[in-house]
Amino acid sequence: MSLREREFFKIYQGIFDGGTMRTLTELARKRFFDSIDFPISTGKEADVYRASKGPEFLAVKVYRVETSNFKAMQNYLIGDKRFGRVKSSKRGIVEAWCQKEFRNLSDAMDAGVNVPYPIKAEKNVLLMGFLGERDGSPFPMLKSVRPKNPAKLIKTVLSFVKKLWKHGLVHGDLNEFNIMMDGEKPILIDIGQAMSTSHPMALELLERDLLNVSKLARRYNVPFDYEKELRSLVK
Ligand SMILES: Nc1ncnc2c1ncn2[C@@H]1O[C@H](COP(=O)(O)OP(=O)(O)O)[C@@H](O)[C@H]1O
Ligand SMILES: [Mg+2]
Repeated sequence: MSLREREFFKIYQGIFDGGTMRTLTELARKRFFDSIDFPISTGKEADVYRASKGPEFLAVKVYRVETSNFKAMQNYLIGDKRFGRVKSSKRGIVEAWCQKEFRNLSDAMDAGVNVPYPIKAEKNVLLMGFLGERDGSPFPMLKSVRPKNPAKLIKTVLSFVKKLWKHGLVHGDLNEFNIMMDGEKPILIDIGQAMSTSHPMALELLERDLLNVSKLARRYNVPFDYEKELRSLVK
């Protein structure tokens, strides 16, 4: 183990479980990043860290293997035709989920939606492009900003829902906590639960996303015709 790796180990022992430590050390050894800098967010299922590679930043999402929600995860994994059999152990499910988020990011990118660039999914660790300023501070969530042009914002977010759907994907957890703002430009994040439109739950998720967009529109006093938008996608 190099000195750098030993230092890394010392700092993060006790924060990450053994398996996660090994995965992160391996990723660092392969030079995906040089250091993990600080947590940007700690959540129920995953924590997100900023990492550095030379002068560049990246985001590292670490899924908890001991997540409380792995039963729910299972429901989202089964029936997605893009994936084969998923192991039923906790670790197996969380790793499949992480792969799924990676796959969803690349599918969303192909659909022309702004999402962080997917770099690598290894076990329960997802590496992606860092959404933040050049000085290394992360962009704010939509939740905590006041958009200058709400009508335009709603239009863009709605276009994300439509592009995803036409590309065979539905986000399923679209809300102001899962949209980051690069100035006035929205970027969709947290796309692990997104699923294929062929899934039996897909329509329900589409309705949920559209309803969230309509709530957002109402808050900004932007006209929004939920029924019309839904009909335009589901004929
Ligand atoms: N690529 C990224 N770059 C910078 N910050 C990010 C990135 N992805 C997520 N974050 C930050 O981490 C938070 C949690 O990420 P998210 O994917 O929504 O995970 P969770 O499952 O915990 O909701 C986000 O609200 C955002 O502040
Ligand atoms: Mg989130």
